[in-house]
This record gives sequence, C-alpha cells and structure tokens, in this order.
Amino acid sequence: MSFMGMIVYGYKTFYIQKETVAPNEYSYHFALVSEEIDNEYWRLVEKGASRAAAEHDIYLEYVGPPKADNDQLLKLLDRMVAVKVDGIITQGVEGQRFADIVLKGVERGIPILTVDTDVKSSVRKAYVGTDNFYAGQLAGKTMIKHTTGEQFVGIVTGRFDAINQQERLAGFKDAIQATERIHIVGIHESNITQVGAAQATYNLLKQYPSITALVGLSALDGIGMVEGLQEIAPNKDMFMTAFDILPETLQLIQNGKIDSTIAQYPEEMGYKAIEVMIDLQQHDLLESEIFTGAKVVNKENLDAFLKGERR
Ligand code: BGC
Repeated sequence: MSFMGMIVYGYKTFYIQKETVAPNEYSYHFALVSEEIDNEYWRLVEKGASRAAAEHDIYLEYVGPPKADNDQLLKLLDRMVAVKVDGIITQGVEGQRFADIVLKGVERGIPILTVDTDVKSSVRKAYVGTDNFYAGQLAGKTMIKHTTGEQFVGIVTGRFDAINQQERLAGFKDAIQATERIHIVGIHESNITQVGAAQATYNLLKQYPSITALVGLSALDGIGMVEGLQEIAPNKDMFMTAFDILPETLQLIQNGKIDSTIAQYPEEMGYKAIEVMIDLQQHDLLESEIFTGAKVVNKENLDAFLKGERR
C-alpha cells in the first residue's frame, strides 16, 4: 500500500508514510535520510543513490523533514530502524540522541552509514562524503589567494547546529589564522534556504557595514548572498565565496557575481553510499571514511570544470 501511495502521491508525501514494506522482487530495502527532503542538494544525493539502487535491484526509500529540523530527522531515522530496513544512509546529526538511535540500529543488525555529515563519535559503520574541515580550509585559502589588503569577513552558515557547517567554519578559521589582514566579523544562519541567506547577508551588512568579503557555507547561501547584497549595498565591491555547484551558483560565477565556490559531489556521495551499503550487507569495512573530494571552482577553471575536469 505504501509503495502504491508513493507512486500515486509522489516522493513529497513519503516522509509521513506510516509503514514501509519493500516489494519482494528487490534484493534489499535501504533508506536514505536527508536534512531536508526537497533541498536541491539533497535531491542530487538522492539521484546518485537511486541510480546505484536501480543498478542493483534495491528498493530505496528517500525520506527527510519538509524543512531542516534535527528533531524531525531523528524521528524519521528512528522509524527506519523500527521498520527494520536492510540499511540506512543518513545525514549525521549532532547530539546523543543520534548516537543512541544509531547504536540501537546497529545492535539490531542494521548497518548505518553517514553521508554528507559525519558523527565520528557514533557507531556508524562508515562515512561517505566531503572532508568538511578540508573543504572549509579551501574556502580560506582561496580568499587569501584572491584578495589583497585588510578583509572583514561576514559568514553565512546553513545552520549553527549542523556538524558539517561547524567543521567547514573550523577549517576556514584554521586556513586564515596566520593571515593577519583577514578578520571574521560576524556569522549568521540561513537555515539552508536562499531567502534565509539573503536575509542573513542583509543583516550582516547592516550590522557590520565594514564587511568586504562574504563566505557561504551551504549550498544555497551563495545565491542568497548575491540577492541580499543587491538589496543593501548593490554597488559595493565584495569578495564572495560560496559552497557547492548548483547551476545558479555556477551561473553567478560565470557573470562575476560570485568569485569562487567549493565543489562537492553529492551525486557521487549517493551513488557510493549505496555501493558501500551493499558491501556492508556481507562484511564490515576496512576503511570507515570515504571522502568524495572537494575543489575550488572560479572563473579561471569554470570552463574546464564544466567540460568534465571535475577533480
Ligand atoms: C551541505 C548539506 C546541506 C546543503 C543545504 C550543503 O553544502 O553539504 O549538508 O544540507 O548544503 O543546501
């Protein structure tokens, strides 16, 4: 019934399904738990995972809160454990509750992987995704390389309580710490939405008109930063670094509104996570951190990047 429901009503309603049963013809039933179901970035993770799932006759259930919310995500994760899927791929969430649910799942024989955001202190079997500290360092290094003189930095972060955002910020701070001319003046949250990022940018510039550089740490932040800047200081010369390679972000690099972005590979994360989960059905892994790479993309290498030089 729930499978029919999914077909009739589409994925969107799926997070409220009560019961999920994989039809018999599938080899395994895996769940992918995302930070926010309809977020463009997570749809790419899902796309890669669905492709791998189709290749291996796996029934993949994609779930996530309608708006980023740790509490709701944890409830979904708990439900996936309760219905005893064969494997769970989930974004890592801060706090003891996440670690407890993962422990419960693993004790019941359900392999659990983190994707996109890791929680090293949990008993998850492995992590597939970006090395977020390193990715944050890249954002810092590109700012050092492409700016001169004193810089006052405003940071737009997806969410304060997302571990990957904390790691990226730590990496950014680490990279700039020895460069005395670069100072962080303020950090605001976007709630991983474009309008949130526009608002955060507006507020940052209102509060600190001295800002000369903006850094966005999640996928829609760069796009929102351009919008927010347009509102409050359209003629101000600003060095802008974003995260991710959503088409609109690349377009903004193309027309010079954003200076650089840190590429992550969400489709590859999804694809790889399914492959790793298939392995985990047979045996434990030797390697528990599988990094999918990160790279600075700017006007200089954008064409090559688009032509396929993605690493
Ligand atoms: C992050 C994801 C986040 C997304 C939000 C990405 O940069 O890796 O964790 O959900 O941005 O748009």
